[in-house]
Amino acid sequence: MTNYLKILESDRQYVWHPYSAMNTRQTIYPVQSAHGVFIKLADGRQLIDGMSSWWSAIHGYNHPVINQAISEQLQNMSHIMFGGLTHQPAVDLAKQLVELTPPSLQTVFFVDSGSVAVEVAMKMAIQYWYAKNQPKKNKLLSIRRAYHGDTFGAMSVSDPVNGMHSLFSDALIPQFIADAPRCQFDQPCLESDISPLALQLKNNHQKIAAVILEPIVQGAGGMHFYSPDYLKQVRSLCDQYDVLLILDEIATGFGRTGKLFACHHANIEPDILCLGKALTGGYMTLAATLTNFDIAQTISHGEPGLFMHGPTFMANPLACSAALASLKLLLDSPWQQRIKQIEKSLKSGLAPCKKSPQVKDVRVLGAIGVIEMHNRFDLLTLQPQFVEAGVWIRPFNRLIYLMPPYIIKMDELNILTHAITTIVSNLSQESL
Ligand SMILES: Cc1ncc(COP(=O)(O)O)c(C=O)c1O
Repeated sequence: MTNYLKILESDRQYVWHPYSAMNTRQTIYPVQSAHGVFIKLADGRQLIDGMSSWWSAIHGYNHPVINQAISEQLQNMSHIMFGGLTHQPAVDLAKQLVELTPPSLQTVFFVDSGSVAVEVAMKMAIQYWYAKNQPKKNKLLSIRRAYHGDTFGAMSVSDPVNGMHSLFSDALIPQFIADAPRCQFDQPCLESDISPLALQLKNNHQKIAAVILEPIVQGAGGMHFYSPDYLKQVRSLCDQYDVLLILDEIATGFGRTGKLFACHHANIEPDILCLGKALTGGYMTLAATLTNFDIAQTISHGEPGLFMHGPTFMANPLACSAALASLKLLLDSPWQQRIKQIEKSLKSGLAPCKKSPQVKDVRVLGAIGVIEMHNRFDLLTLQPQFVEAGVWIRPFNRLIYLMPPYIIKMDELNILTHAITTIVSNLSQESL
């Protein structure tokens, strides 16, 4: 039996994959290695990566600079507990994140995944009001189509019906939820867009600790791009009703939408900010929750005098070193120009899909290109077609989307968009 088949056999027997069942017909592809924008499968086939491993591998894979940073750190220590101890990579990274993010954000809490960064943000908001003698302000307000992760707190603020968590709804903490805005990225925010959230705040602000939103791009909940105007209005409503604003930039952070952080499109500052995914250039798992001085001081001086969270692998030194190297690579590169170029190519490359009767919408923002179909498609038949076309694209629900590494060359990007237009047009012909 070849190694490829052996891996597959054991994988099928023992291993769970994200959002999947054991022993299904779903095709899984063993990967041998990955370099730049290329993923090499264990059977020798090579695929161009259109996913950046879910928004994270912005510099591509196996980057010599990040490799070196990690191996240098490895000579010192791979991990050390963060309770009572600290280290250079964590301190340097915290300082840099404070410098890069909106000025009011002054403190950093490191965690090990995006979902946990959201849990920490929620706990910070609740603990803030508790310290201010307002313990009844302990609910969150989110919007439909939201996705903030898979842990229980994060699920409770994700879309209860449309999202991936409806099965758990009876087990989740009840939160407040408002309809999502309909205004698209380049449209003004109308009264009808903001009124559902405004009404929830008006009626329930005494119970609400914070509003939580993915700024500009609602990702896993449907890849919708909404107006910066909406975000501005949410910020003023939060101020008006004395409610904190948590922005979840786990997917959008570090340039993906064309700005370093998506909140820059609206020129607003959150009270709490969650970062993850591309933070380490997709090298390893690390996330962070940032907050302002007022929240940090209020929590620290209120009861019980400390913030109640502390993961074992908090501020892992290898991950912090990878993040520092990744940030330097990003900031030293012409990333804005690259994202603009990617945006232009995505727009022109995906435009032919608009003609397909099965396609509902084609939208592009920064280095994100989305084809929304009218109906759900069968991933089992679609996924192998993309692999045969030499590309790694992982559609879900009614969406086929691209979020390539920023280092992708335009001829490589054309191969990705061409694969999509061809497969979408074949789908349309098959259904005639
Ligand atoms: C906006 C957003 N928040 C949170 C998460 C959860 O991050 P993680 O998968 O690292 O737990 C995701 C993951 O896709 C996300 O897109």
